[in-house]
Amino acid sequence: MDTAAIADLAPVELNKLAQRLGNTPMKSVHLVIGGVARKIHLKLESENPTGSVKDRTGYGLIQALEAKNLLHKNSTIIESTSGNLGVALSFFCKLKGYGFVAVVDPKTTQENLGKMQALGAQIEMVDTPDENGGYLLSRLRRVHDLCESSDSYVWTNQYGNPANPQIHYSSTGPEIYEQMQGEVDALFVAVSTGGTLAGVGQYFREASPTTSIIGVDAHGSVVFGTPPAPRKLTGIGSSRPSSFITGNLYDLHMLVRDEEAFAFCRTLWETTSIKVGGSSGAVIAACAQYLQAHPEVKNVVCLCADGGDNYANSIYNDEWLQKQGLQLSKEHLGPVEEIILKTSSIR
Ligand SMILES: Cc1ncc(COP(=O)(O)O)c(C=O)c1O
Repeated sequence: MDTAAIADLAPVELNKLAQRLGNTPMKSVHLVIGGVARKIHLKLESENPTGSVKDRTGYGLIQALEAKNLLHKNSTIIESTSGNLGVALSFFCKLKGYGFVAVVDPKTTQENLGKMQALGAQIEMVDTPDENGGYLLSRLRRVHDLCESSDSYVWTNQYGNPANPQIHYSSTGPEIYEQMQGEVDALFVAVSTGGTLAGVGQYFREASPTTSIIGVDAHGSVVFGTPPAPRKLTGIGSSRPSSFITGNLYDLHMLVRDEEAFAFCRTLWETTSIKVGGSSGAVIAACAQYLQAHPEVKNVVCLCADGGDNYANSIYNDEWLQKQGLQLSKEHLGPVEEIILKTSSIR
């Protein structure tokens, strides 16, 4: 649903929209690799109330604070966010009557800034890069300073709060398992805080230990201990390791370049009209490489964290791509010769 429209909803309608959290659909498409059409399932988290997997996280973080009696009528929630979680928290704070301060940085998309503001969030823009060349540590310092300045601020702490992986353990993981009737050979999840991967990974380790869990990260991110470098992909990646991911929760990590992720986003959209965000493009790119190396693998799920509408001014804008010096070509699709929509969809 369009955020401007959400902002105008009466409380009863906001409540109805919040009920649509989770139970997101799964759509299948085929990737043609080496002349063979390989089916993959896309779990479309864009169908959540504000359009991303972070609606689950935002809900879980607030619920955990409420359960501990840490939120009161005049509380203001505060969080460092590069975008989607900020939109999700803006929505749930509006719904529940809490204030919300989103500590963001210049990489936050215009689309997400507009959504947060429309939903009543106060924006704190941090524009000084930290010692790692990113903004995460600067954002966290601002959160800390604000929390010191007033007792009314409550930090949800998506980076360390166990409620983050927990909500994916209790909702995202079981949904995928049930939609696939327990038959998942490989599951691909993009990482930033690592909350989604840790929660879904833990669930599958218990429910289906033979499922391969693959963490997908951006080249230049350090989540899996790889060296830092500049990157254009947003939503995915981090300038410090995850506090949630441990080696026993995944089987493999794969790194994807900006151009590969964006090429999958654009080609998927052109051939199937499914418009996904950059981290989903990365996940599908990693999945394609994996399928090429594993001809025996059949039941595959790509967790698509958000939709393409957040990226109208970036990934889906030719001028922006050109300005970034990114020229997308068929080469960036790696082993994939063609993407074909298959109409079946699982709710
Ligand atoms: C688009 C997108 N993909 C993937 C992720 C990664 O989620 P997590 O923080 O659970 O690792 C995020 C997190 O913000 C995101 O916004």
